[in-house]
Amino acid sequence: MATEHEVETTGLLGWIDRRFPLTSTWKKHVSEYYAPKNFNFWYFFGSLALLVLVNQIVTGIFLTMNYKPDATLAFASVEYIMRDVPWGWLIRYMHSTGASMFFVVVYLHMFRGLLYGSYRKPRELVWVFGCAIFLCLMAEAFFGYLLPWGQMSFWGAQVIVNLFSAIPFIGPDLSLWIRGDYVVSDVTLNRFFAFHVIAIPLVLIGLVVAHLVALHEVGSNNPDGIEIKAKKDAKGIPLDGIPFHPYYSVHDFLGVCVFLMIFAAIIFLAPEMGGYFLEANNFIPANPLQTPPEIAPVWYFTAFYAMLRATTDPFKIVLMIVIALLGVLALMRARGKWRLGLPVLAVLVILAMYFTQSKFWGVVVMGGAVVSLFFLPWLDRSPVKSIRYRPVFHKVFYGIFVLIFLTLGFLGTRPVSPAATLIAQICAIIYFAFFLGMPFWTRLGKFKQPPERVQFKPH
Ligand code: HEM
Repeated sequence: MATEHEVETTGLLGWIDRRFPLTSTWKKHVSEYYAPKNFNFWYFFGSLALLVLVNQIVTGIFLTMNYKPDATLAFASVEYIMRDVPWGWLIRYMHSTGASMFFVVVYLHMFRGLLYGSYRKPRELVWVFGCAIFLCLMAEAFFGYLLPWGQMSFWGAQVIVNLFSAIPFIGPDLSLWIRGDYVVSDVTLNRFFAFHVIAIPLVLIGLVVAHLVALHEVGSNNPDGIEIKAKKDAKGIPLDGIPFHPYYSVHDFLGVCVFLMIFAAIIFLAPEMGGYFLEANNFIPANPLQTPPEIAPVWYFTAFYAMLRATTDPFKIVLMIVIALLGVLALMRARGKWRLGLPVLAVLVILAMYFTQSKFWGVVVMGGAVVSLFFLPWLDRSPVKSIRYRPVFHKVFYGIFVLIFLTLGFLGTRPVSPAATLIAQICAIIYFAFFLGMPFWTRLGKFKQPPERVQFKPH
């Protein structure tokens, strides 16, 4: 049966094409993949994320050649890479800077999705795979951070693994099982190494493939948030679509050049980035007998870490009151046989909260902050996708959301103080209100009618 991208090739390529779908795959996903012609700056970050992924894998392979996953040798092996291995310092800085830049790029990539409603039908799975990628990236960064076996590596892992011990009933055994020992030790280092170098990268690559396959099945969204597949020419090509190659391969190449300039500037001029990319305490070998004065995770985790720290005993009471109010609201609005479902759930959660430590609810709040992202496609009920055609107050809400996320990120890097805790608690409430309130506020206001065809000015 003839396919859309069938090809007639001769010579070596023809020989391969008769045995393997090389040319047709190239056409389907690259030279005949029609992307909307109005992509802007925000569309650089997907291909940049791919670039950083490749950078992490390649530099990671070279680091592994000289790194020793052994508690007595790990720290010294990293120093050996930095001082004695030819170009080892460059490989290491490319990997450590790459980790932070991965999060910069992915946060911007996710924000683009939020701006243009790229998670909405029919791209829900593209988004869900993306969120799973984000979770994997967090796990990958966490496991990798233990490997240099510095003070922050050790104590960061100790703090995070201990969080699991707050889970009722199974907690203490679970954290023991994760560590493989009563404290973070050589056993923990070995298993974290296995997860960091092979298990999670495999899952990550699988998810990235699924992310792109899902995207190419439905086609890309664009800054106007309208479907280009709705208007096609006689050959079935979208009127507002242009082939990914050469148009977007050239466009993305510009993004890659600018990114590499920034990347190189950081590596050569400020690889520690004032302690944000590589923390000063991690240049001290791990010492299980001496806790550093401040244990703070790397910047990309700090927003979530601030929510964890903000969940104190008084905040737990505030959360219980909020849940009780939501339960009453659900009872007033509920109809049919599910009438009592949500209110009963609210009562059960409040009882559970009453009998368990606030540390456990801190973990729930922190996890909930990430898990909420998965539900975005079903929470947003706005009649238009793109922020361009939404009411001004939606833009203000997005602005507030970004602001509170940055504030939480900043607070997570600072020592605890009563004022900082209070601000973090207010920010955490706004963070969740943004998501939980979405089914209501996204429907409100005066929407502009999106255009029939994408808006594009050649430059
Ligand atoms: C390793 C990490 C990731 C890689 C390599 C990656 C790669 C890509 C690429 C190449 C594209 C197409 C180009 C573009 O639209 O920019 C894309 C689109 C997209 N990605 Fe990702 N992505 C990653 C993580 C994520 C995450 C964490 C999310 C969200 C939680 C996400 C959500 C999306 C969405 C919604 C689209 C479609 C955008 C549109 O059509 O407007 N991605 N991704």
